[in-house]
Amino acid sequence: MEQVIPMQIDVTKTFKNTSVKVLDFLVDSMFEFVDQEFLPSQSNFGPVNELGGEVAVTSGIRGKIPDDFPEGIYIRNGPNPLFGGLKSTRSVLGKSSHLWIEGEGMLHALYFSRDGDVGDGGWTVQYNNRHVETETFKLEKQRNKPSFLPAIGGDPPAILSAYLLNLLRFGKVNKYLSNTNVFEHSGKFYSIAENHIPQEIDIITLETLGNWDVSGAWNRPFTSHPKRAPGSEELIILGVDEVKPFMEIGIISADGKELIHKADLKLNRCSLCHELGVTERYNVIMDFPLTLDINRLVNGGPLVEYNHEGYARIGVMPRYVDADSVRLFKVEPNCTFHIINSFEDGDEVVVWACKALDSVIPGPDMALNQFGWLRRKLKPTSTSKENDISPDEGNLLSHAYEWRLNMQSGEVNEKYLTGKRLSMDFPMINGAFSGYKNRYGDAQVVDSVASSASGMLKYSGLAL
Ligand SMILES: [Fe+2]
Repeated sequence: MEQVIPMQIDVTKTFKNTSVKVLDFLVDSMFEFVDQEFLPSQSNFGPVNELGGEVAVTSGIRGKIPDDFPEGIYIRNGPNPLFGGLKSTRSVLGKSSHLWIEGEGMLHALYFSRDGDVGDGGWTVQYNNRHVETETFKLEKQRNKPSFLPAIGGDPPAILSAYLLNLLRFGKVNKYLSNTNVFEHSGKFYSIAENHIPQEIDIITLETLGNWDVSGAWNRPFTSHPKRAPGSEELIILGVDEVKPFMEIGIISADGKELIHKADLKLNRCSLCHELGVTERYNVIMDFPLTLDINRLVNGGPLVEYNHEGYARIGVMPRYVDADSVRLFKVEPNCTFHIINSFEDGDEVVVWACKALDSVIPGPDMALNQFGWLRRKLKPTSTSKENDISPDEGNLLSHAYEWRLNMQSGEVNEKYLTGKRLSMDFPMINGAFSGYKNRYGDAQVVDSVASSASGMLKYSGLAL
């Protein structure tokens, strides 16, 4: 007699698969992906392909590599979108778009070694590049088509629906970019963008080794610019999230295995604080009026907005305390992404940074002339005639700036450090002086003319 084997049906799995198919169908029928175009003057922002392995750099080296130059690897990270470039979408709900800061991270590495005979003066220089393979990168690559809907810029109904559909289909509202920085801690190397945790990378092969969640203790956004605590090997980190707690500070042990301190700063808005500062005793955070607000989006406003009149505060907290011990100093409204250095000077905590009066994020309203918006705000102020100046002309250009925060009196003094003739950003100092009073720093100098002509920030020199 023939045996009848009952068929096992996994109802949950079947339902889930069906739901994904329905949602995919919905997205494919409702949303049209459109390539964001580059003007010829913006083409150096276009994506490049993976090389698939190291190549020798045999030309393009100008000058001579110094004899005492150290052997080693120089790595940089940056957005390099899959599928030919950043996308926007069109639907009955309006437009939604990526911001220029989005795009999957790609690592670019230069390997300097003396053991070869290729190149200048016995040096061998090799180059390689490779995408950071986050969970969402692998998912989109496997699907072989743009899948996450752009969910930051554009018309509020389109952004909101993109947000929800990404969440329903993939369990997250946006892609993990890992495209902003590379850092080292305890002998390991990580790629990072602040919407997710770091990705450990192999700096020889550029292979992505996986998430770093500090032994399961840190499962929220992670700053792109973590700082080594002065006088110790501990790592100070920050996480800014779109839901409460909006900002948390963390301290990771020197061996990278343990989160030894965590504090919710109890801010009442999601301020997009891109970098934190450290001094010998304090952590320094920026609560400036560039904010991400889901409620604002639901009510028809932008998800990300810079409010020129919003309050701005700098928070200073002893290294291991909680929110109750944070001193918040009110400063002039501004937009600052990068801190040059911070240190203690008598009773004062001094913060040096590159400050602008407006934010390049999220960028212009899509209904406006976007190119004109950028061109006006990147216009070199020194070349404008008095009667031609519009109130926001040149406001995206950042300048070296100082805040002095008196921990005893609560007084604040602030001023420009270098005047406004040169606009600069992406500052670096000798890491040994991070958190201590220093004399020198480097920054990239904005080419105001090229920036205002192309509508994108371009840099043409270094300032020391
Ligand atoms: Fe940065």
